[in-house]
Amino acid sequence: MEREIKIAPSILSADFSKMGEELERAEKAGADVVHIDVMDGVFVPNITFGMKMVKDLRKLSDLPFDCHLMIVEPWKYVDKFAAVGADYITVHYEACGEKTGEVLKLIRNNGVKCGLAINPDTDFEKVKKYIGCCDLFLVMSVFPGFGGQKFISDVLEKCRKAREEIDKRGYSCVLEIDGGINGETVKLAADAGCDFIVAGSAIFGAEDIAKAIKTLKNI
Ligand code: DX5
Ligand code: ZN
Repeated sequence: MEREIKIAPSILSADFSKMGEELERAEKAGADVVHIDVMDGVFVPNITFGMKMVKDLRKLSDLPFDCHLMIVEPWKYVDKFAAVGADYITVHYEACGEKTGEVLKLIRNNGVKCGLAINPDTDFEKVKKYIGCCDLFLVMSVFPGFGGQKFISDVLEKCRKAREEIDKRGYSCVLEIDGGINGETVKLAADAGCDFIVAGSAIFGAEDIAKAIKTLKNI
């Protein structure tokens, strides 16, 4: 089946001292979505940025902002990220547990598309029941926390299962993959049914980012 692949550069790999320019550079280079990694130093062993970054970048771009919350108790921040202009808010199943359904609803009630992410070692069967309530389902292909890690190909099986579930039931849920994506692994991800492709180091680490985005799109 022909599926449109959208490329979401992760600004985690951009130069934080000139984030506005980096965003504009990615937009000009053909980015479809902007992936914003929010880390709290508790859910993951790294700290990035919060609502203020989203608010300030929002002034510079109309691209969809895909906010990936790698934080504990993410429900406490849903309204705050909604207020500063997130288009998607993605929370981790590992951070929400039994509250997952409730948190997804909370995101939608704030007028934002809701996403659910799972770590590489989380079983698909545990979260299958939530896919019908999601606008985006994110399969992590590295353990969250840092850019530039190696792609874990075992997760492709979960992508295939998620794709099958989405298609079989006619859900309008986007399937996203995040971590270790480059010119090679992007093919595996697309074959496994992913439609939103996040890439950090492969884009911001490239000399020519337009060429890097084009390579990822031309699979
Ligand atoms: C990892 C983040 C990713 C990261 C991807 O925790 O969620 O979005 O920026 O970076 P690369 O593409 O370099 O693996
Ligand atoms: Zn991410």
